[in-house]
Amino acid sequence: MAQQFSQQLRRVRPSSREDAVVAQARDHFERTLVMANGALVGSVAALEHPRRSGEANYGEVFLRDNVPVMLYLLLQGRFPIVRHFLAVCLELQSSSYQTRGVFPTSFVEEQGQLVADYGQRSIGRITSVDASLWWPVLCWLYVKRSGDHSFGTSQAVQRGVQMLLELVLHPTFEGTPVLFVPDCAFMIDRPMDVWGAPLDIEVLLFGSLRSCCKLMELAQRQTSSRMLDQRLSLSRQWLHDLRSYLLKHYWVTSKTVQVLRRRPTEQYGEHQHENEFNVQPQVIPPWLQEWLENRGGYLIGNMRTGRPDFRFFSLGNCLACLFGLLTAPQQRALFRLVLHNREHLMAQMPMRICHPPLDEEEWRNKTGSDPKNWPGSYHNGGHWPSLLWYLGGAILLHQHRHPEADVLLMDQMRSLLDECYWSQLNQLPKQQWAEYFDGPTGTWVGQQSRTYQTWTMVGFLLLHHLLRLNPEDVTLLDIDTDQA
Ligand code: GLC
Repeated sequence: MAQQFSQQLRRVRPSSREDAVVAQARDHFERTLVMANGALVGSVAALEHPRRSGEANYGEVFLRDNVPVMLYLLLQGRFPIVRHFLAVCLELQSSSYQTRGVFPTSFVEEQGQLVADYGQRSIGRITSVDASLWWPVLCWLYVKRSGDHSFGTSQAVQRGVQMLLELVLHPTFEGTPVLFVPDCAFMIDRPMDVWGAPLDIEVLLFGSLRSCCKLMELAQRQTSSRMLDQRLSLSRQWLHDLRSYLLKHYWVTSKTVQVLRRRPTEQYGEHQHENEFNVQPQVIPPWLQEWLENRGGYLIGNMRTGRPDFRFFSLGNCLACLFGLLTAPQQRALFRLVLHNREHLMAQMPMRICHPPLDEEEWRNKTGSDPKNWPGSYHNGGHWPSLLWYLGGAILLHQHRHPEADVLLMDQMRSLLDECYWSQLNQLPKQQWAEYFDGPTGTWVGQQSRTYQTWTMVGFLLLHHLLRLNPEDVTLLDIDTDQA
C-alpha cells in the first residue's frame, strides 16, 4: 500500500502550464486586496464567501491569513501596503480593560468604519491569540526588509510592543514560561482539544518575543531608557526559559520515548526531575514507534499534567525551524520524520494540518461532535495547501544557513518539495484554489471548503517565488539577521 502510494506521488511531473497558472494566481490575488482608511490594507480570507449568516467573515481581513500575504508583498517591494496593514492593526489593538494589548482576529471596513473581532463576534466566541503574537513578527520582518527604521522606532510601534509584552511577561499561577490559552486560540479555531499550552501558540510566542526584542533593540540604539533595558533583559530571560522548556518537554525522538516509557511516576519534591508532569507510560501511543523510526524527531502538540498530546501539528513544527527554536540537527531529524511519513503528511495534497486525527469517539467527546471536524476533515487531519510554504521556507532556510549539512537528506527534501509544488500546481487551479481537502489522502476537496481562498493562492505564490524565482529571498523569513 505504502509502496503503491509513493509510486503515485512520484508520478507528479513538472507542468508546461506553470507560467499560466502563476499568472492566474497573481490575478486572483490582486482581487483579494481591499482598502481600509483610504488605502490598500491586505486581503480578504476568500474571494468566494457566500454571505449566508455565520459564514460572512470570509470577507474580512484576518491577521493570520495575511501572514503569507504580507510576506509576499514584502518580496514584491510593495512596502506601503504592509506598513498600512501594520498601522491599522495597531490602531485596532484593544485598549479595553480586560483585553488591553490584544490584536483582533479579523477586521473589516463597513460604511467607513473599522469593525474588529476580538472574539466577541466569532462563531463560538473563541479567543484568538495567534493574531497578537504574529503582529511583532510581521512588523520586524517589514522593518528589516524595507529598512524603515523610523516606523520600527516610532512611538506607536514601541507602545504597541509594550502593551503586547504586558500580556505575556507577568506573574501567573503556574509560574512557567508558556502562555496558557483556551481551546481554539489559533488557526485551529474550533474545539480540537488544543487548550493549555498548544505547540503552535508556544512556538509563535517564541518568534514573537524574539521580534519584540529586535524592535526594542532598535529603539535602544536611539534612546536610553531604564524601562526598555529592563523589558529587554526580562524578555531575553523569558525566551531562554521558554526554549529550554519546549525542548525539554515537547521534543521527542525514538531515544527520548524509550526514556519516557521507563520513568518513575508519582514523583514529589523539587529535586525529582524525571517526570515532572506525572505522565503514565500507558499514555504513550503505539503509533509513535513506526512514526518516529530510528532517526526522526518532532515537537509534540501539547504538554499538560498527566496528559501530553502526541499529535503532530505541522505549523508549529515548521515555525520551530523558521524561528530557530530547534537546533540544526533537530531540524534535520524533523525533516527525516516528514520524509518517512510523507504518505500521511503530504499524500495527494500537501500538507496535512495534524496527525493522527481524533477518532470517532474522541471526536464526539473532544470536539463536541463538530460536523466540520469529522475525523480526517478540516482541522482534524484535513489537508491545507496553505501550509506547504511554511515547510518549504523551513527547508530552504536550513539549506541557506547550513549548506554543507547532510547533503543527501537535504537533496531528498528538495525533491519532496519540488514534487509537492508540482502536485499543487496541477491540482489547485482545477479545484478553484480550495481552502482545504479531506483525508486520509487529501484527494477530495473539503466538504465545506471555500474556494479561491487567499492563503491557498498566496501560499502557492510564495513557494513559487522561493523555489523557482529567487531562493536567496528566503532570508526574508529569518528573524535573526538584521538585513534581508
Ligand atoms: C477558518 C479557519 C481559520 C482561518 C479563517 C479564515 O475559521 O479555521 O484558521 O483564519 O477560516 O480563513
